[in-house]
Amino acid sequence: MPPVPSANGRWALITGATAGIGAAFAARFAADGWHLVLVARDATRLAAQAAELTGRYGIETETIAADLSTDDGCTQVERRLAASPAVETLVNNAGISLNKPFLRSSVEDEARLLRLNVHAVMRLSLAALQVMTERRGGAVINVSSVAGFGAVMPGSTYSASKAWVTNFSESVGQSARPFGVRVMALCPGYTRTEFHQRAGIDMSKTPEWLWLNAPAVVDEALRDLRKGKLVSVPSWKYKLAVAGLRHAPRRLLDVIARDTRGRIGRDRG
Ligand SMILES: NC(=O)c1ccc[n+]([C@@H]2O[C@H](COP(=O)([O-])OP(=O)(O)OC[C@H]3O[C@@H](n4cnc5c(N)ncnc54)[C@H](OP(=O)(O)O)[C@@H]3O)[C@@H](O)[C@H]2O)c1
Repeated sequence: MPPVPSANGRWALITGATAGIGAAFAARFAADGWHLVLVARDATRLAAQAAELTGRYGIETETIAADLSTDDGCTQVERRLAASPAVETLVNNAGISLNKPFLRSSVEDEARLLRLNVHAVMRLSLAALQVMTERRGGAVINVSSVAGFGAVMPGSTYSASKAWVTNFSESVGQSARPFGVRVMALCPGYTRTEFHQRAGIDMSKTPEWLWLNAPAVVDEALRDLRKGKLVSVPSWKYKLAVAGLRHAPRRLLDVIARDTRGRIGRDRG
């Protein structure tokens, strides 16, 4: 049994906390003695996670069962962000992809993706930053993706939603800095979680070396946050990929994108 660290009295709120990258954030914060507000839709899973983290690390936990693709869900979390004890770190992590190209999609599915990946991130960031800038301290981590650095998955609107998250975080991060508040976009590459399975995306042909693990992504994100970075891209291989996406000639990227087009809807991430 690991030693129970003493709680440091600070609160973090994590969306999409029950699986994947969000669960890795929750475990890391709890191990560091943070009290946690855990947000996801599945109330049973939230309660089990809260009991496990409280038992193992001696921290306090609150849970909010909310669907962040709805206005009501966002309002519930905004209320907690405006309340006491103050949330000092917000991790906007919940996000989804769709396993179909835009031309075969529906307004309902596209709106759901935008409401979770973009609209909820905007609303919860605004609610948190109003309190944090007033208190002159705090941090917001918005989980984006390397997919946001280029339209290399033609037909996929997921990339566009993550491009918004990265640009938004960089922009707002600069205006929050003078208040002692940090905002950072976290842009992972392929990470082993429930994400692709939930979207029904077959990743069986993705080479093993491309995969990251969620605790390593979280460790690097928190190191980059301490350094004051506005954008964090974990692992050297995805740093290289992002440099390529940012600086490679447009025509080369178009060729790569054409090659990917035939695979959309079957095995893209
Ligand atoms: N995995 C990757 O390869 C990868 C790569 C780059 C970026 N990302 C990004 O990383 C973030 C986390 O993804 P992940 O891979 O950790 O996903 P995951 O394993 O599928 O976990 C998703 C979490 O979000 C919650 N969630 C889903 N829909 C929600 C909704 N409408 N309202 C509230 N909570 C919701 C889920 O719980 P409930 O189902 O109970 O709500 C779960 O806790 C996402 O923003 C994703 O875009 C992932």
